Amino acid sequence: RWQLSNLMTPHIPAGVWNAIDYERLAPQHMDAGRLAYVAGGCGWDRTVAANCAAFAAWAIVPRLLRDVRGGHTRLTLGGLDLPHPLLLAPVAHQRLAHSEAEVATARAAQATGTCLVASTLSSCTLEAIAGAAGPARWFQLYLQPEREHTLALLRRAEAAGYRAIVLTLDASIQLASRSALQAGFVMPADCTPANLAAYPPPAPPVLGADDSRIFQGAMRHAPTWDDLRWLLGETRLPVWIKGVMHSDDARALQAAGAAGLIVSNHGGRSLDGAPASLHRLPAVRAAVGEGYPVLLDGGVRSGADAFKALALGADAVLIGRLQMYALAVAGALGVAHMLQLLTEELHACMAQAGCAQLCDITPNCLTPQPPC
Ligand code: FNR
Repeated sequence: RWQLSNLMTPHIPAGVWNAIDYERLAPQHMDAGRLAYVAGGCGWDRTVAANCAAFAAWAIVPRLLRDVRGGHTRLTLGGLDLPHPLLLAPVAHQRLAHSEAEVATARAAQATGTCLVASTLSSCTLEAIAGAAGPARWFQLYLQPEREHTLALLRRAEAAGYRAIVLTLDASIQLASRSALQAGFVMPADCTPANLAAYPPPAPPVLGADDSRIFQGAMRHAPTWDDLRWLLGETRLPVWIKGVMHSDDARALQAAGAAGLIVSNHGGRSLDGAPASLHRLPAVRAAVGEGYPVLLDGGVRSGADAFKALALGADAVLIGRLQMYALAVAGALGVAHMLQLLTEELHACMAQAGCAQLCDITPNCLTPQPPC
């Protein structure tokens, strides 16, 4: 197996002191088009910016004289014992960042004990990713236009030992990123989704003059509650729902049997103008109550961001773009190092805020921060 102890500091690129430094260095390792595709959201990137800015609206209040010796970030999530509450979000097309793509990310996850969520749209097959990953691996599923293709993906994920399904429901239609369009980005052939090679897409619909390209086109295969009920009846694996932003949806998904929810706006890549995911987190947590698993992603760039999300009701957070930047800069080593830095940043925040364990991180640890 790939060992973290193989990672000697001389291999870590100069100038990386914090996890976010990988974002700063990424432009030196990715061409402008690829970088624009990864960094961009959709439209004018307003929700991408909102996701990050939402964290700046909160400050962490230091506490005194607390004994945090023996502190740790261990948790049990979905039956997995994890060393920290940081997961790798499903991020498609990772060959855009590195030739070893998701296999490198999986090695980093395995070496650091991190739970990895492999995307349906990965550049490597889900089987190849499973071969490099540790036991903490979940599979992110996009429902396919044909149920038999969805079922085939599900059975492959079960056979490859994935421990949960993450069903993403917020991306039936994604408007293009203006920055990626302006950079002339076109998806390279070696980055197309390896998992879907066997499932040809249906022919596009023939639209009449009055037909909506959106309603009769892209949305004609969009998932419905029927599809969710069908999927839940087809697998024994826990099914998490990703893309939850409304408390009514949260309550209904909990009642329908979802194993847990991921508050997310797809990193601002689906609806430009959606609220920051952090802003929706307290309402979702209030809707489902304590004790039901709720995760968050969108804009997490530091251990302090992770701390704030945990304080506002998340059990753990997922890391999206930072994994692509670290992968581009230093491959598997970069992703493992980025995770290690985030964990240390979280430890430092917990120590300063007098929190020895994750359950000590509560809303009482935060105060609103007026804009500078
Ligand atoms: C994504 N995301 C995503 N989500 C998902 O459910 N399936 C997928 O295949 C992808 N693919 C993908 C590609 C790229 C290039 C990006 C940047 C993002 C969304 C991802 O899981 C996560 O929700 C966001 O990336 C979180 O926001 P941050 O951490 O990137 O700010």
